[in-house]
Amino acid sequence: MHCEIIASMVSTITLAAEPGPVLVPFPHDFAESITATPDGALIFSSFAGGRISRAAPGAAEATEWIKPGTNGLLSVLGVLADEARRLNEGFFRRIEEGRPLVTLKLASTLDGRIATAEGESRWITGDLARERAHLLRARHDAVMVGSNTVLADDPELTCRLPGLSDRSPVRIVVDGRLRVPLTARLVASARTTPTWFVTLKGDAPERHRVFRDCGVELIEVAAAGETVDLVAAFQELGRRGLTRVLVEGGASLAAALLRAGLIDHIAWFRAPRLIGGDGVPAITAFGIDKLAATPRFERSAVEALGDDVLETFHRP
Ligand SMILES: NC(=O)c1ccc[n+]([C@@H]2O[C@H](COP(=O)([O-])OP(=O)(O)OC[C@H]3O[C@@H](n4cnc5c(N)ncnc54)[C@H](OP(=O)(O)O)[C@@H]3O)[C@@H](O)[C@H]2O)c1
Repeated sequence: MHCEIIASMVSTITLAAEPGPVLVPFPHDFAESITATPDGALIFSSFAGGRISRAAPGAAEATEWIKPGTNGLLSVLGVLADEARRLNEGFFRRIEEGRPLVTLKLASTLDGRIATAEGESRWITGDLARERAHLLRARHDAVMVGSNTVLADDPELTCRLPGLSDRSPVRIVVDGRLRVPLTARLVASARTTPTWFVTLKGDAPERHRVFRDCGVELIEVAAAGETVDLVAAFQELGRRGLTRVLVEGGASLAAALLRAGLIDHIAWFRAPRLIGGDGVPAITAFGIDKLAATPRFERSAVEALGDDVLETFHRP
């Protein structure tokens, strides 16, 4: 699992200040003076225990709370709180909702197609975009796809960036009826890279045994209609300690996750190509009649990657 950084426990103050005494909003009277040095560092003096502490020079974030600790140490709370919450978002999601944070990654043409009518999807985007996508994998605990994507593309879903191959996440396939063949690369390499299949509970026990014999871990989930109950599946992934899951498609899985309200972030790579209406849409129908019912996201960043663009979004 990735280590979620406990960045909210910052023990330094980062106030940009001119040399000379400065005032900061102390809730207690434990510090009598703070002096800024020419290089921007802050010197605390005359606080509980009479020790002197030196805070980090640099940025202009004011602190809301400074607490005297034992041994004359200062704890500063609330510094970069929003950034800290973002860093730990997967951890909080798991603690608060019992499921990991879910990022949907798509690589499409300008008209939102992820494959041609014949199913060709390699490669819609260029080298830089694909390297960036591999970095996304390294930053997640798991990468997930639907069974049709494995049948169509036979992907490896590993991180193949130089020096980061040991950061390959757990590979997860949502495959209710275990339709993926044993010859698929994901199954064949299950003993070396952890591979989990989310499948329907109690379905075809003999097929389950064969998959387990190949080193695949099966996560058996109840059905919701004819397919796997994704809400239950993600609760189980949270129970297994996952904090961040990157979903790499395809279109049906993406639609089902959006319908279930399970997508928190979107990483959308777009290439300056057009396939047209006979291509495979990035997301299949998910029953929206009114604009008011459309899931809304806010854009967090835009990044140019050669001719391609990566836009990232989060749920407000
Ligand atoms: N350019 C890209 O970024 C990109 C990325 C990925 C894929 N693709 C392309 O997308 C195409 C595959 O997409 P797809 O939409 O056909 O398939 P998909 O989303 O990859 O897989 C759909 C299958 O997942 C299984 N599934 C299990 N539970 C489900 C649930 N609750 N909701 C939805 N599916 C569930 C279903 O099979 P069972 O009912 O048998 O369980 C379903 O048929 C391929 O052409 C691939 O090349 C492109």
